[in-house]
Amino acid sequence: MQKKMVSYLFFLLITSVTLSFAQTPAVNPYPAGSYPDRIFLNITEDASTSIAASWRTGVETGENFLEIMPATDTPSGIKNAMSYKAFTEPFELNNVKANYHAARVKDLQPNTLYMYRVGAGNYWSEWFHIKTAGKPGEKFSFIYMGDVQVGMRTLWPRVIREAYKKVPDARLIMYAGDIVNRGFNDHEWGELFDGGSFIHSTIPGLPSPGNHEHADNAEGVNVITPLWRVQFALPDNGPDGLEETCYYADVQGVRFISLNSQAIWFGGEMMQRQIDWLHTILKNNPNKWTCVTFHHPVYSVKSNRDNKNLREKFQPIFDQYKVDLVLQGHDHAYGRGMKNVAMPDKKGTSATMYVVSMAGSKMYDENKQDWMDKAAGHIQLYQVITVDGDKLSYNSYTATGKLFDAFDLIKQKGKINKIVERR
Ligand SMILES: [Fe+2]
Repeated sequence: MQKKMVSYLFFLLITSVTLSFAQTPAVNPYPAGSYPDRIFLNITEDASTSIAASWRTGVETGENFLEIMPATDTPSGIKNAMSYKAFTEPFELNNVKANYHAARVKDLQPNTLYMYRVGAGNYWSEWFHIKTAGKPGEKFSFIYMGDVQVGMRTLWPRVIREAYKKVPDARLIMYAGDIVNRGFNDHEWGELFDGGSFIHSTIPGLPSPGNHEHADNAEGVNVITPLWRVQFALPDNGPDGLEETCYYADVQGVRFISLNSQAIWFGGEMMQRQIDWLHTILKNNPNKWTCVTFHHPVYSVKSNRDNKNLREKFQPIFDQYKVDLVLQGHDHAYGRGMKNVAMPDKKGTSATMYVVSMAGSKMYDENKQDWMDKAAGHIQLYQVITVDGDKLSYNSYTATGKLFDAFDLIKQKGKINKIVERR
């Protein structure tokens, strides 16, 4: 009995040490240095003609640059690269200091393979390839990830690597929030960038923030981590006060929209601004397809969770403008379905497909709800979505690459008129 008690106390000691290390490591495991790191390629408002990269270096470094040129087979071609001076911002949070850099390049050629690097002097990144987006209607694929949040450098890297192996030419990766567990902890972002490695520098990312990227400040106001805006360079086309968390980007005939659902959850002015903005960008939308991502789901996977503001204020907008796909996270289980199906032979208001998924290792139980056509728990997933003219094909794969869920949406005269289940 005494032996049992001793081993239990030892277990508690080890657990508390592990947890405290997970929260505040005694030694910063990801110090910024002379070489650029955390190099993130951001989605841009027009991905066919522009790119935006962000990265960091140590505080001892000075100005940094982005060099870019059409990709060549001969290494001697790099002397012809164009150089762009980065916007540099010294930054400190919780005693972790770094210089953050961002560079945006415009007037690129669509559907063209470029090579770029970032840095200065003797300290440059490797050259990365990036293919600009093509024209509306041309076939392309993108990746969607639910919450990463836990296991960023342990169990999630295998998921993003499988996704990259499946579609190395994906045009973007969407993250539906809670990308890390504690958004104000620098080392958690270090783990995320460690886990994603060069993939983050090769395929543009479209991150949407979750509740874990927010926390209450000294005045008790819930705010996004200041690391969000320094380490990303996302489109600045959203409402005031929600910069780079609420934005849109057009890629080959699809309008991608990120909403800040944490601000929606709290309601008030920041929700209203998103409502007004969403009406504007959906009313003036020349794209055939519309895909919206945010963190808190309109319809939850768990019966005891309800994000009322999203359901009552935003679903009617998705219905009104016939948003095709809503990609969400937060519930750590999988759910997929259409709440209101408006097929040609049925009366209804919507043909929006809602998905909740998860990518990291934090898991909740499966919870089948009425709205779902497919549900699962305790499984790591990534999604590959391919848009080809009037057809959108959705494939959800397990961490080991097995097809788990699949459907096609087929449009006629601008509306979805057929859903082909392939699960
Ligand atoms: Fe969450």
